[in-house]
Amino acid sequence: MIAYQQKLKLSVVAVAVSIGLAGTLAGCNDDDNNTSQVQDEDAQYRAKAEAMLKDLSLSEKLDILQGPGMDLTTYAGIPPINLEEGKDVPGIAGYINGVKNEVLDIPAAKLSDGPAGLRFSPTREGNSGTFYATAWPIGSLLASSWDTDLVKKVGEAFGDEVKEYGVDFLLAPGMNIQRNPLLGRNFEYYSEDPVVSGKIAAAMVNGVESNGVGTTIKHFFANNAETNRFFNDSIAEPRTLREIYLRGFQIAVEDAQPWAIMSSYNLVNGTYANHRKDVMTNILKDEWHFKGLVMSDWFAGNVTGLTSNFTGNVGRDPESAAKMITAGNNLIEPGNLKEDLQASYDNGTLTEEDIDKSVVAILTQVQKTPSYNHYNYSENPDLNAHAALSRLAASESMVLLKNTTSALPIAAGKKVATFGTTQINTFKGGTGSGDVNAAYVKNIASGLAEQFEVNDGLVTFFSDYWDTNKVPNPALFASGYVIEEPSVAATPALQNLIASAAESDDAAIITIGRQAGEGGDRNSGEGDYLLSAEELEMINAVSAAFHAKDKKVTVVLNVNGVIDTTAWSDKVDSILLAYMGGQETGSAVADVLSGAVNPSGKLAQTMPASYSDVPSSATFPGTDIDGDGLADKSYYNEGIYVGYRYYTSFNKQVSYPFGHGLSYTTFAYGNTAVTSNTLATDGKLTITTTITNTGDVAGKEAAQVYVNAPEVKLKKPTIELKAFDKTDLLAAGESETLTFSISAQTLSSFDSANNQWIIEPGTYNVYVAPSSEVSNTQPVTFTVSKEIVVSKTTPSALTLPEGTTEASFVTVSE
Ligand code: BGC
Repeated sequence: MIAYQQKLKLSVVAVAVSIGLAGTLAGCNDDDNNTSQVQDEDAQYRAKAEAMLKDLSLSEKLDILQGPGMDLTTYAGIPPINLEEGKDVPGIAGYINGVKNEVLDIPAAKLSDGPAGLRFSPTREGNSGTFYATAWPIGSLLASSWDTDLVKKVGEAFGDEVKEYGVDFLLAPGMNIQRNPLLGRNFEYYSEDPVVSGKIAAAMVNGVESNGVGTTIKHFFANNAETNRFFNDSIAEPRTLREIYLRGFQIAVEDAQPWAIMSSYNLVNGTYANHRKDVMTNILKDEWHFKGLVMSDWFAGNVTGLTSNFTGNVGRDPESAAKMITAGNNLIEPGNLKEDLQASYDNGTLTEEDIDKSVVAILTQVQKTPSYNHYNYSENPDLNAHAALSRLAASESMVLLKNTTSALPIAAGKKVATFGTTQINTFKGGTGSGDVNAAYVKNIASGLAEQFEVNDGLVTFFSDYWDTNKVPNPALFASGYVIEEPSVAATPALQNLIASAAESDDAAIITIGRQAGEGGDRNSGEGDYLLSAEELEMINAVSAAFHAKDKKVTVVLNVNGVIDTTAWSDKVDSILLAYMGGQETGSAVADVLSGAVNPSGKLAQTMPASYSDVPSSATFPGTDIDGDGLADKSYYNEGIYVGYRYYTSFNKQVSYPFGHGLSYTTFAYGNTAVTSNTLATDGKLTITTTITNTGDVAGKEAAQVYVNAPEVKLKKPTIELKAFDKTDLLAAGESETLTFSISAQTLSSFDSANNQWIIEPGTYNVYVAPSSEVSNTQPVTFTVSKEIVVSKTTPSALTLPEGTTEASFVTVSE
């Protein structure tokens, strides 16, 4: 009873906070979006879900709060309650239990990964058919398009596969901040910047959900390392969490209202993310007005002794499930924790009111699902059309880092010499739940062969080398093989091939590959962040031979994330960051190299000059405090100075700055102006810029708006991205005027001392620029005459663990 009263008090505080919010600036969303429409629609479903409560027993309610479970030895899902006859989708990650009683007949809902394509079994027992999904470009690549229309289009096609293969909720997009280049799952994520992450995620959510299926944005929140992923504790100040690690999720929620959000494995400031009522309820639901359901990550917050690949001496905190539900994490996956929930109910730590809240949140969303509406799915989406879109999206997103001597484009039909095993073993995406069972992967060698005359001797050499020397990929959850490049010095056959190719062929293309994924982080050494000795040797040998004949050398990076370029970039003429382009990677690379597609991707994460320059490099992936050999605590020492916010504020040279990307044409920016500033009244700022294609070929330009804000009470990074947009394809000489709208919420900074978002008074410099290297851009200015309080927030949310103070963080500096 006492516990019940305490909980009641807490929810009164939450209501007071939301009332307070209503009194501050309203209408802060940047774009026209479908939020209000979604809210109305949800109100009807919510009313119906509330009405269902009277027809559910306690036991049935507990079944809804947690999935049926997963067999840890086979990772197979256990059949859920009321799965419609014949509607199983083998290989999916989980379910929401249904209900069948005298009054209600709610079918189980189906949940499936992941960010780069739908993940399920391509083959079925007793069925000779195959069921492949499209492998789309990885998140990091799609975000590099800086093109929300393109991402939405991909989402629409992706969501069609979700629906037509019988799935209800996609467990994607992933949108954690790329805090450190070595995070194993960076490939699933979008950017080091929350505005890019939030806007790209919102576009993906709107695209997928336009099909009437759900998305699950993940992993909420401050989940920035895979090492010891179930127990790593992210220690960060409230302002850091608000401005960097929560802001992207806030944008996605406010702009797109996804059906679901997935809470993350890690702890934040000493408490499991999904046990935090201040975030799962006060921030997410009361401050941001999230209408969907919150689900846990698989086995999150309830296990002890579990290792990253789900093995180990598994025990569990019997109160963990109740803690999740009372915090506002509505659904526990994969579940099978009914006994725990029942015991917590019996001992009073879980009340029927808490249970009902989560049941209503879940059933509100479930009513929208294809399964609930008995949708007769085809299992036959248009995979050819989707493959074409996947190829287009990949080519429109790849980043041309360097092209100093106009080595690219290489005219179609020219003779090209291709080096590196990655041309054979091309990576379509990363490993783990972000992997996709695609029908095929077009490798780089065969993609190039469609548009160029490829040196067959070299392709055969690398193909044979691959077949003979490949070893099974040791990464967790990885399938397939990996290999080291051959040593040129030790391989006379390769030396001869290089020499004769330099005679006979027009240009050289060297591929460098890197694989990574879920359950582990990368390392900063040779063969991973750094190139291996053999890779450097190959670049040196090929460059020397081709340059001696006045022929150009291009490097194509088929990588999961950032790698070093400092040690070798001056050896080559051009570098294409292809990331992992999905099943059509090879064709997309060829499209860009031949100029069939003029590159227009730009970096959504910085490429630093050296790993040691990364502000979190000294502490990533965490510190082993309890001496068990595993990183337990990650101190976010760099605070808000993540990525370019750090490099620009502390004048650090980088290899390629955030936002950088070249084109085969050139663009001029002109007439930049702040056309309206109503921040103090209705919370908006509008800026326009005219972009002109000043080169010879058609191209697209992604323009970025950086703001340099005055420092009154709060210190600020030198510049912060506040908006971006991309032109249409502009013919040579053609111009387009872009209009950027920045909300007060996006412009504001977090004033933790007063629990509020504020815009400080003073003069603001606005740079509309091609990248975060703004030194050649003339800023325009606007002024704010007195402090604007944009919104009030939950008091005492996200506080540091006891004993940790601001002084516990080592301040980053030059
Ligand atoms: C991953 C999630 C994924 C889930 C279901 C977890 O291990 O962290 O991203 O959605 O498994 O496969």
